[in-house]
Amino acid sequence: MIYTRIVGSGSFLPSTVVSNNDLAKDLLCRGIHTSDDWIVQRTGIKQRYVADVDVNTSHMAVESARMALIDSGIDASDIDLIIVATSTPDCVFPSTACVVQSKLNASRAAAFDLQAACSGFIYSLSTAESFICSGKAKNVLVIGAEKFSRILDWNDRSTCVLFGDGAGAFVLTASYDCGILSSCISSDGSISDILSVSGHFDRGNVNGCPFVRMDGQSVFKNAVYVLEESARAVCDKACVDINSINWFIPHQANIRIIKMLSRRLGISNDKFVITVDKHANTSAASIPLAFNVAKLDGRIKNGDLVLIQGVGGGFTWGSLLVRI
Ligand SMILES: CC(C)(COP(=O)(O)OP(=O)(O)OC[C@H]1O[C@@H](n2cnc3c(N)ncnc32)[C@H](O)[C@@H]1OP(=O)(O)O)[C@@H](O)C(=O)NCCC(=O)NCCS
Repeated sequence: MIYTRIVGSGSFLPSTVVSNNDLAKDLLCRGIHTSDDWIVQRTGIKQRYVADVDVNTSHMAVESARMALIDSGIDASDIDLIIVATSTPDCVFPSTACVVQSKLNASRAAAFDLQAACSGFIYSLSTAESFICSGKAKNVLVIGAEKFSRILDWNDRSTCVLFGDGAGAFVLTASYDCGILSSCISSDGSISDILSVSGHFDRGNVNGCPFVRMDGQSVFKNAVYVLEESARAVCDKACVDINSINWFIPHQANIRIIKMLSRRLGISNDKFVITVDKHANTSAASIPLAFNVAKLDGRIKNGDLVLIQGVGGGFTWGSLLVRI
């Protein structure tokens, strides 16, 4: 049996940290009121990283990929496929993945972007797994990279306080020992309007809204429901008792969603990796960023069973159970 194993991980955060107080002061200059208290109580977010104007998504993707490649010991020239999960590509085309391929000199690799909003990293891992298990690729680089600050309406306090920029990467390889045990990805396009960026180019104009728009309460309710359901589904698929999982890494959007999920699953909060306080919601980058924090601080070790989950625009969601 061939498994898809995570053999390296990396991450990148821009140098500018914006605390809730910094953001509140900035918004107040434009007559918009928010506070550290409101943001912390409703979301758990205390700060976010914001990329400078000249730092684009591919730059952050490349930095996180370099770190993951070093961690894996695999050379860029041995990568067969690069998938970049992003909703904020550098441009319409070429894909951000092709820019990354060139900057890494990963000359053998096929490269494409995958857009599934905040579920993009889970969708990409599941896609990489299919390539590896079918024998079409041996080594795959999966990156989640976002410059969400570009698509935020900084006059809309209900969304601009929630997101941040950053990137994270995994190197995956075929293994006979261990790796991804089960995965599932799902979508429900009938509720796409609860979270969207509807803007698009049309004959030289931008039609529709170029910013994130969200019905926060609908997103909240749907997120809790689908995360619980898909966590149970991947465990059932792999015949794994949910209590035997060492670490839960859900998409980092809101601490209240994560706490409600932990209550519903009957799993202690201590088993959940939390980075939303420091990174805010970095969309497709949130999972590899959180994974890398827990790996570097020694929580995630070889042999651990880890549940990774994404949810977001589309509406999309997915879960993946992996033995490290
Ligand atoms: C966005 C979210 C934090 C809002 O919390 P909420 O409890 O639903 O708050 P509401 O939208 O009902 O707004 C409550 C009040 O706070 C106000 N408010 C909204 N944003 C605010 C802010 N940044 N600061 C201060 N007040 C704010 C609203 O205007 C509203 O005021 P009103 O009662 O006078 O009309 C919450 O719905 C949420 O986290 N949803 C999920 C979002 C998410 O995870 N998205 C990404 C998924 S990938």
